[in-house]
Amino acid sequence: MHETRRDLLKAAIGSAATLLLSSGRLGAQPAPLIERAIHSSGERLPVIGIGTARRWEQATTPAEMVPLRDVLRQFAERGGKVIDTAPSYGNAEALVGELVGELGIRPSLFLATKVGAVGREAGLQEIETSFRRLRTPRIDLIAVHNLRDIATQLRTLRELKQAGRIRYVGMTASFPRQYPEFERTMRTETLDFIQVDYALDNRAAASTILPLAADRGMAVMINLPFGRGRLFQAVQGRELPPWASSFDCASWAQFFLKYIVSHPAVTCCVPGTAKVEYLLDNLGAAQGKLPDAAMRRQMEELIDRL
Ligand SMILES: NC(=O)c1ccc[n+]([C@@H]2O[C@H](COP(=O)([O-])OP(=O)(O)OC[C@H]3O[C@@H](n4cnc5c(N)ncnc54)[C@H](OP(=O)(O)O)[C@@H]3O)[C@@H](O)[C@H]2O)c1
Repeated sequence: MHETRRDLLKAAIGSAATLLLSSGRLGAQPAPLIERAIHSSGERLPVIGIGTARRWEQATTPAEMVPLRDVLRQFAERGGKVIDTAPSYGNAEALVGELVGELGIRPSLFLATKVGAVGREAGLQEIETSFRRLRTPRIDLIAVHNLRDIATQLRTLRELKQAGRIRYVGMTASFPRQYPEFERTMRTETLDFIQVDYALDNRAAASTILPLAADRGMAVMINLPFGRGRLFQAVQGRELPPWASSFDCASWAQFFLKYIVSHPAVTCCVPGTAKVEYLLDNLGAAQGKLPDAAMRRQMEELIDRL
């Protein structure tokens, strides 16, 4: 009897400590991030990464770089890996390279950039600039940006992959008008990754592109998960529904992101993140339970009613 009570007490202390640890309140190891495998290699990536469009584009002064350095440091400390950037994002690519180098975190990261040039020579030049800006001999993923000169650039990217300078090849889209060509290319080309827009209020990609990616064994990176903040405006002044706690969701950002990463075809998602407060919130979407199919429908209905 005595033994049993002691055991129960030990178990209770154990689970309280686990809860505290997973919420990060003891300042110890935060809970591990949910991961998904890249089909073509089996390599696993955390489902939440960082997008660097807009906020990262404009940062040039030392003061503007402070929060971005903190975001990267904390991201790596918490097991984050995927950073998505592009040569066309102003200062973002160079800033990622500079801060990652300064923090010494390159080995733990998965750096994804893009090529958006037209013509073989212009493409090669742009890619070499990305290597210099990112300050790395090997880029994890280069994707053809918005299908631009796709046949030429894919040829170059495959050569670079063959030579071991990049690890994965992909392509991106972010508008429904690009989808017909995007789908045709998915059916005819072998790609490691696709990147496409998908959000709780923008679900077009789920009708063909996401199932096709699963069929073709392509990893999926989601862009514009908040529709650039459109979703936050839609729920402004509203409380989270009480049932959100059933899938460990504590904020609207987690609500929107957990919807995305619970889609079975999605590998990871790259919300635009330039503040530590947002980083910690967004990484929460890669922890705990995810909504099941029935709950996902309930989430869609809530947003469709707004
Ligand atoms: N064709 C392409 O290849 C393509 C196209 C578009 C985007 N992308 C990639 O996808 C990434 C994501 O898209 P995006 O950055 O344009 O839009 P987004 O991720 O849909 O939204 C970013 C906005 O959400 C806000 N935000 C982030 N976390 C938040 C949080 N926890 N709580 C409240 N607000 C939060 C940010 O606010 P603040 O403004 O206050 O920081 C920012 O304005 C890009 O950064 C880029 O890497 C690729």
